[in-house]
Amino acid sequence: MSTALAAGPLRVVVLVSGSGTNLQALLDAQSNADPADPSGYAVVAVGADRPGTGGEERAIARGIPTFTVRLGDFPSREEWDRALLENVSAHTPHLVVLAGFMKLIGPDLLRAHPTVNSHPALLPSFPGAHGVRDALAHGVKVTGCTIFWVDEGVDTGAIIDQRAVRVEDGDTEETLHERIKVEERVMFVETVRGLAADRTSWLT
Ligand code: GAR
Repeated sequence: MSTALAAGPLRVVVLVSGSGTNLQALLDAQSNADPADPSGYAVVAVGADRPGTGGEERAIARGIPTFTVRLGDFPSREEWDRALLENVSAHTPHLVVLAGFMKLIGPDLLRAHPTVNSHPALLPSFPGAHGVRDALAHGVKVTGCTIFWVDEGVDTGAIIDQRAVRVEDGDTEETLHERIKVEERVMFVETVRGLAADRTSWLT
C-alpha cells in the first residue's frame, strides 16, 4: 500500500436506493470528526440506481457530488455494471459503502473496490430483499443488522459486525425496521471509522 493511501481521510463512495438515513449518519459523523483522526473518512460521492432518492438529496444538501446509473437506461446488465464501475472509479474511492443499495454489484466493481454492505437481519439468517419481513414471519424474538464485505453471493460475505434488536409484541415490518435502523446507523459509523483506522490490514 502506498503512503498516499495510508494518509488522510479514507475516501468513501456511498451507493443508495432509498431514503438514505444511514448515509446521513455517515455524513453527520464525518463533519464532527477531527481531521487528524486516523479513523477519519470522507464521503467523496454518492451514487444511486434511480433518480430522486432521499439519499441523493442528502448528498446534494452537503455539496457532495452525485451520480445516477439506472438499470433501465442500459441494454444489458453487463453494460449497467460497467457504467456503475466507471462512475464509482471516477471518484477514486478506497472503500465503497452500500447503504440501502438494492442491486447486486457486478464482479468487476468488487475486484476494483473493496465494498461493504449492511443488511437488516442477523446474517446468515434472512438474507435477500426482505430481511425484516422474513424474520418477523419466522417469529424470531431477536433480530438485528449485519455489516459485511460484499462478495459475489447474496448477503454471503465475511461479517464485520452485527447488532441485536429485540422483536416486540405488535411489531410490524415498519416499526421493527425503524428500530433496527437506529442500531444500524451507529454500526455503520463505527464500522467505517474502524476500517479507516485499520486500513493497512485490508487496503492493498
Ligand atoms: C437499511 O435498513 C439497509 O440495511 C437496507 O435498506 C435500509 C436503507 O435505509 N438494505 C437492504 O435491505 C439491502 N439488502 P436508509 O435508506 O434509510 O439508509
